[in-house]
Amino acid sequence: MKVLVLGARGMLGRELVQAFSDEEVAAWDKEEIDITKEDEVRKKIVGEGVDLIVNVAADTDVDGAELHRERAFAVNEIGVKNVAMAAKDMEARMVHFSTDYVFPGDREDGYEENDPPGPAINVYGESKLAGERALIEVGPEFYLIRTAWLYGQGGKNFVDTMLKLSETNEELKVVNDQEGSPTYAVDLAAATRELMMGKYDPGIYHQVNAGQTSRYDLAREIFKQAGIEIQVEPVSSQEFERLAKRPAFSRLNNTKGPLLRDWREALGEYINIKIQMTKSK
Ligand SMILES: NC(=O)c1ccc[n+]([C@@H]2O[C@H](COP(=O)([O-])OP(=O)(O)OC[C@H]3O[C@@H](n4cnc5c(N)ncnc54)[C@H](OP(=O)(O)O)[C@@H]3O)[C@@H](O)[C@H]2O)c1
Repeated sequence: MKVLVLGARGMLGRELVQAFSDEEVAAWDKEEIDITKEDEVRKKIVGEGVDLIVNVAADTDVDGAELHRERAFAVNEIGVKNVAMAAKDMEARMVHFSTDYVFPGDREDGYEENDPPGPAINVYGESKLAGERALIEVGPEFYLIRTAWLYGQGGKNFVDTMLKLSETNEELKVVNDQEGSPTYAVDLAAATRELMMGKYDPGIYHQVNAGQTSRYDLAREIFKQAGIEIQVEPVSSQEFERLAKRPAFSRLNNTKGPLLRDWREALGEYINIKIQMTKSK
């Protein structure tokens, strides 16, 4: 099988390239292709002749999207449409990633795969929802994987931000009114590989590490596992204003896909790797 990963140098992209390394993989990012350009996408991707396109290319700047709406939609909607059209032309399968932010975040019991998404409460979520709709409308054979609160090597993420802030602060304020599912990019990449092994039908999947937590409890768990003594104070989202609103309850319930391990165990592995890397510097 020939696999094309788009967004291959991003946080999840690099793990997907690893996860599919038993296949022939082409790993492209912005330098090789701009997914917002329809002609370029058609020419380059159709010319490549692949069986599976894994699209991780995205504009993931949640606060930035509030200021740059057009850019978010260009990548997260038009870009997805362009890639989906190329996949359809070639009769290739397509894997595409979306987010818990396509839901408003008002369900304490979480969202299932078939719950109708929307309305999103920030521009990033709106643009990702528009991308989901474009994918479904163009209609290649697709696996639409929603995930949440991703962390891993080489990307901007909450875990790294907390660790970095702890170097220069004795006390941190963290919001305690946002609940979600922290997800390790390595685990998500492995689950994506498993989804493509033939046991699972195309469709919508929710793939996150098992369990849920608040940002506040996640921060405390990060420091506990990293052995860092620091005061963490719970605050409300109102007290900690950001450009983009975040959903309050955006747990993704996985009712049909591969099961990922508990979020605490995954976090422990990531933090151990970070500690080892710091020691070997
Ligand atoms: N991070 C999270 O917490 C989270 C949560 C839920 C869902 N997701 C979804 O999961 C997926 C992976 O997220 P991630 O955090 O791994 O993303 P990421 O690290 O930001 O990677 C995205 C990659 O796409 C590239 N890209 C941006 N615009 C492009 C364009 N026009 N053409 C080609 N490539 C382009 C980016 O390059 P530049 O960096 O140079 O722009 C980057 O290398 C995304 O679909 C995201 O929406 C993420």
